Amino acid sequence: MLFDCVVTQFANEQFGPGIQVKMVPLRGGLESPGIMRADVRRQGARVGSFVAKPLLGASTRELHVYQLLERTARQRMAPALLGWHAGQDQEHIFLEWVAGQSRWPWRNFDSLALVIEQLASLHGASAEPVEAALAEWDYEAELRESAYATLEAYNRMSFQRKSPAGRPATAALARITEALPRLRGQLLAFAGTTLLHGDAHPGNVVLTRGNALLLDWSRARIGSALEDVCSWVHSVSFWEPEAKRRHDSLLRRYLLARGLPAALSRDFRDACSLAGASNALSGALHYHLAILEDPKTSRRAKDDSHRAAADWLRLIRRADTCFREGPVRKRGGAKDGCSRQTARSNRARSPRQLASGLHIQGGNSSNRRRSALKSFREPG
Ligand SMILES: Nc1ncnc2c1ncn2[C@@H]1O[C@H](COP(=O)(O)OP(=O)(O)OP(=O)(O)O)[C@@H](O)[C@H]1O
Ligand SMILES: [Mg+2]
Repeated sequence: MLFDCVVTQFANEQFGPGIQVKMVPLRGGLESPGIMRADVRRQGARVGSFVAKPLLGASTRELHVYQLLERTARQRMAPALLGWHAGQDQEHIFLEWVAGQSRWPWRNFDSLALVIEQLASLHGASAEPVEAALAEWDYEAELRESAYATLEAYNRMSFQRKSPAGRPATAALARITEALPRLRGQLLAFAGTTLLHGDAHPGNVVLTRGNALLLDWSRARIGSALEDVCSWVHSVSFWEPEAKRRHDSLLRRYLLARGLPAALSRDFRDACSLAGASNALSGALHYHLAILEDPKTSRRAKDDSHRAAADWLRLIRRADTCFREGPVRKRGGAKDGCSRQTARSNRARSPRQLASGLHIQGGNSSNRRRSALKSFREPG
């Protein structure tokens, strides 16, 4: 059935006969082009509004997640699921339309913290009921593939002298890409695994009075809570200076909301840098490199992507510096919290040697910076 017919049929079921439905395309739509807001009127007067979202391929997990949240969430986390339609080759979900309280609420710390607390509630809930539905997505394999595609794009651009400005990141990107499975193992061991939103950025949050509702659960999966936390803090800081300024306060707020001590230990920061690098390689950096490479994209889009790619590359370099083999960090001599001496001594080695020396749990090499991240888990 055509999308329009599916939406009209649903509107008729909800509002009865004699209605007119106006479809308004919504911005975004990278994962599911065609997402619409349906405005329902009767004799010219508005009687309701809802969102109709086509689910493509694997993104049908979004329906499972909405159903889980409806059943189990202790607090409201997402728009209400009004219904769904399973066609022969496509599914659609119908969601409550949520009007945000302002277009850009993120200048206010309390608003930023509401999202962090919402993520903490999600991460604190049991993922068991949805685990089977989400397990079909081999995220680790997809991430590895995405990381190599990113590396290839970056190398191609470097070769053509078109890579984003700033310090070159070729070697760091190669090392992190190669070591990614091991680093991921360490990240998951550090923070444990939980249900994640998987795409926490300002475009996927609507702030209503006193609550932050998370939209777009198409990338929901099981993973490290820090991937969500870092995704939110990084993405909102990119656009909002106040979020950047309060970066550490937001992280502390998250720990407190999980019932953990609010101290930002070095292990915690290192795990965050791993989560950030992992997020960079999951498609975000590649997306911005593709925009930079595309001759058809506008100047403005290129400028934004230039800045975004440089920002993601900074995270990659930070993770690389923190996790490669080297002498113990020197107090005060560190950039991004890591030793300059380590960086110097490693610069002389080949990427392969360095990748194999990247820090991983349980290492017994005497010059390894530390044996493993101490785990970060909720008490009890
Ligand atoms: N229930 C809702 N209430 C209010 N706005 C919504 C709702 N659902 C979606 N939107 C708006 O539509 C946009 C696109 O929706 P969504 O993020 O679900 O689609 P998507 O295809 O996964 O997008 P993208 O790939 O760009 O992240 C959102 O950024 C948000 O602005
Ligand atoms: Mg979205």
